[in-house]
Amino acid sequence: MSTIILGIESSCDDTSAAVIKDGYLLSNIVSNQAVHEAYGGVVPELASRAHQQNIVPVVHEALKCAGVSKEELSAVAFTRGPGLMGSLLVGVSFAKGFARSLNIPLIDVNHLTGHVLAHFIKEDGEINKQPIFPFLCLLVSGGNSQIILVKSYDEMEILGQTIDDAAGEAIDKCSKVMGLGYPGGPIIDKLARQGNPKAFTFSKPHIPDLNYSFSGLKTSFLYSLRDWIKEDPNFIENNKVDLAASLEATVVDILMDKLRKAAKQYKINEIAVAGGVSANNGLRNSFKEHADKYGWNIYIPKFGYTTDNAAMIAITGYFKYLNNDFCSIDLPAYSRISL
Ligand code: KG4
Repeated sequence: MSTIILGIESSCDDTSAAVIKDGYLLSNIVSNQAVHEAYGGVVPELASRAHQQNIVPVVHEALKCAGVSKEELSAVAFTRGPGLMGSLLVGVSFAKGFARSLNIPLIDVNHLTGHVLAHFIKEDGEINKQPIFPFLCLLVSGGNSQIILVKSYDEMEILGQTIDDAAGEAIDKCSKVMGLGYPGGPIIDKLARQGNPKAFTFSKPHIPDLNYSFSGLKTSFLYSLRDWIKEDPNFIENNKVDLAASLEATVVDILMDKLRKAAKQYKINEIAVAGGVSANNGLRNSFKEHADKYGWNIYIPKFGYTTDNAAMIAITGYFKYLNNDFCSIDLPAYSRISL
């Protein structure tokens, strides 16, 4: 008999539902919330209201696209955290009510585990190259920058992480001080493709072990910009692409220096990347260069699996289902929760 999992994701500003059958993706519907663009960042209350409006149509669409009736579902998997509490509550409450009404198991999923296990989503008619355990995963998003040792589907160890800002957060803030739109990551990425990555130098952190820090880079970027603007009021406009390219190159260097160190220290050459920042072309190119230079087997997610999506929640739910790892209906959402 087939195992069919409905995944639900609502941790931040994307409402998403996906259906996975025996490890193969049948549908993955994501509804973005344009309402935040005017504010230059996610407004939590607006996000939860938009989730409330979106959740029923998004789930309906996911089931319809998958060609699956709700009676055929084996279980409902949902993001328990980390994320914005108001946003999480919408998905968690919906998942609980839906699973209870169908009398099927409920599976809680850690959003970060979902990003890592997105590498195991299989799609019909595609070559599904998957990492071999143990592997290292660089998880880089708006809220996290971590190097994770992935020992199995349910055993992961954080080897290093940011002690302050995340990489995506730093890029977004630097983009904001340049007067660019939100979110800054994709805009910086696009501009960087036309610029010189060596045009400007920004300070890099000296943090021990495998940890990261991005707050110093943010300050260095801000202060340098302030000095340059004193000399030339049109500095940003005249140097936009070079600023973007140099900022991106600095972030990529910081990320890859520690990842190389981890690979050497743990003698692992199966290396994956995940999270929103893994959409970045500079980072993707650096991964490919490292594969050539150091013999790494690299795993870079499809663009659709880099940002928040329910396919990664459904696949994690699928592995938990195979382990009979279910949760009770009174399990609360958690805004802060580690791997
Ligand atoms: O994983 P994600 O969708 O959300 C969480 O933070 O959980 O990541 C969002 C982050 C934002 O900081 C966004 O600017 C960044 O990922 N991002 C990018 C790119 N696309 C998204 N950063 C650099 N280059 C990109 N192409």
